[in-house]
Amino acid sequence: MTKEKQLEDLKNICEKCYACEIGSRRDKMVFSAGNPNAKVVFIGEAPGKDENAQGLPFVGRAGQLLNTYLEKVGINREKDLYIANILKCRPTNPDRPNKDRVPATPEIKNCIDYLYKQIETVQPNLIVLCGGTSLKTLTGKKTIQISKVRGSVFELELNGHKYNAIAIYHPSYLMQYASQEQKDITLEDLKLIKTYV
Ligand code: URA
Repeated sequence: MTKEKQLEDLKNICEKCYACEIGSRRDKMVFSAGNPNAKVVFIGEAPGKDENAQGLPFVGRAGQLLNTYLEKVGINREKDLYIANILKCRPTNPDRPNKDRVPATPEIKNCIDYLYKQIETVQPNLIVLCGGTSLKTLTGKKTIQISKVRGSVFELELNGHKYNAIAIYHPSYLMQYASQEQKDITLEDLKLIKTYV
């Protein structure tokens, strides 16, 4: 079976998933974007407002900034990357449905096997952990920091499979808080990522 077909089947399963309360309030489940045959898998945190509306990852302001960075180093988002998130539904609280929040641990537990399956299907040469939630969740290290591990490729074991991985600052962080130096080094990190595409 092709990777496309395997992922399509998994997407259909995710469409029927209501394991978390946020699933019952989603507009669209956000499965992935990009190329199932890409050599690089890019993992963000969770859908926000725009992603929930369109059913695609990284299409809001953070996604637009990500696109700018990718273009600067010559990475083609549709061809060179397969993009997914830790969660497939937008995490908000019922009393504040317009305010994004970080994924809760039970939500990650409910959702993570779908992501493992996506990664196992794509079989990337490199996984890009974009932002703290992605880095902490997939390394299983609660206190690990992007600033301490960024800049080099390390081994990551997921669900019994070994991969190369690298962590980068999340575009939302780059937009709101990052220093010029952090923005500059992110471009350097993306140049390193480009050597894997
Ligand atoms: N932030 C993420 O981490 N993922 C998205 O899809 C959008 C914003």
